[in-house]
Amino acid sequence: MNRLSHPGASCCYVSFAGMEFSGTVLETGTDVSTVKETLWQIPEGVPLREAATLPVSYGTAILALEHRACTRPGETVLVTAAAGATGLAVVDVATNVLRAQVIAAAGSDDKCKLAMQKGAQSTVNYGRGGLKEAVRKLVGSGWVNVAIDTVGGDVFLEALRSLAWEGRIVVVGFAGGTIASVPANLLLLKNVSAMGLYWGRYKEQNFPVFSRTLSSALQYCQQGLIQPHIGAVFKLEEIQKLRSREGRCSDLPDINGSREWQSQDPSLVVWLRSPGT
Ligand SMILES: NC(=O)c1ccc[n+]([C@@H]2O[C@H](COP(=O)([O-])OP(=O)(O)OC[C@H]3O[C@@H](n4cnc5c(N)ncnc54)[C@H](OP(=O)(O)O)[C@@H]3O)[C@@H](O)[C@H]2O)c1
Repeated sequence: MNRLSHPGASCCYVSFAGMEFSGTVLETGTDVSTVKETLWQIPEGVPLREAATLPVSYGTAILALEHRACTRPGETVLVTAAAGATGLAVVDVATNVLRAQVIAAAGSDDKCKLAMQKGAQSTVNYGRGGLKEAVRKLVGSGWVNVAIDTVGGDVFLEALRSLAWEGRIVVVGFAGGTIASVPANLLLLKNVSAMGLYWGRYKEQNFPVFSRTLSSALQYCQQGLIQPHIGAVFKLEEIQKLRSREGRCSDLPDINGSREWQSQDPSLVVWLRSPGT
């Protein structure tokens, strides 16, 4: 990890007020040799805009796939809410870094399309019917090796039931609002592992692992392996306005004189529905 310590260098930042940003250090005091905050130096060739999107979504994706699920090349990975911020990052890392076969599961055809653009090999629109049955049609009795779930509830349970022998499921979030209970017999029958992931907690409990997720994300980005999805760019004062009017899409500002982006960018619409998640 390169800690930022000199003016002129660019850095991205993660704090636990839920904020991420990137920028350039313009000056430091004469006695300053390091920084107190958690900063990572942005490598040459990574634009500030991309760097600012990496910490939470890609940090979580890398931790889930690499550290928790130990995903291997060629394995099949099922990603739920695949067009959300975390889901797209998981699809990107699983496909383009780990060379896994990704099934992207999402709640609409537009979201499935977005996940395909990120590299998923196949998709399931669970808005139309059962996830497990659709996965079975895609992979047959081989099922999936890894599932990364940010939705919870029935979607989590169907993902759990879609696991192969010695499969691993990682619980990342409960965007759907329901926390499922794990039927322990399912773990036993196929020697399956269900595990949790709380990325931010690694900052206190295991900083080297936490830090590695950030430096890996920056490195993958520099190598051109991953491409974070930027749904839209807002000025800071516009963000303030959006946050104070959350959920009221009709109040959103025009983007390039058009409001069509609301339906063209599924992940952004969802972010607006649930900005606090
Ligand atoms: N554990 C961790 O360290 C960690 C790190 C990052 C995020 N998270 C959690 O992971 C979840 C997803 O985060 P995100 O940043 O990817 O969110 P996001 O960009 O807002 O995406 C959320 C996705 O959840 C799905 N969803 C299902 N039911 C929903 C509902 N009732 N309201 C809103 N969305 C719903 C939607 O996809 P479909 O319509 O396709 O289902 C949506 O795309 C959140 O619960 C967040 O707190 C946890």
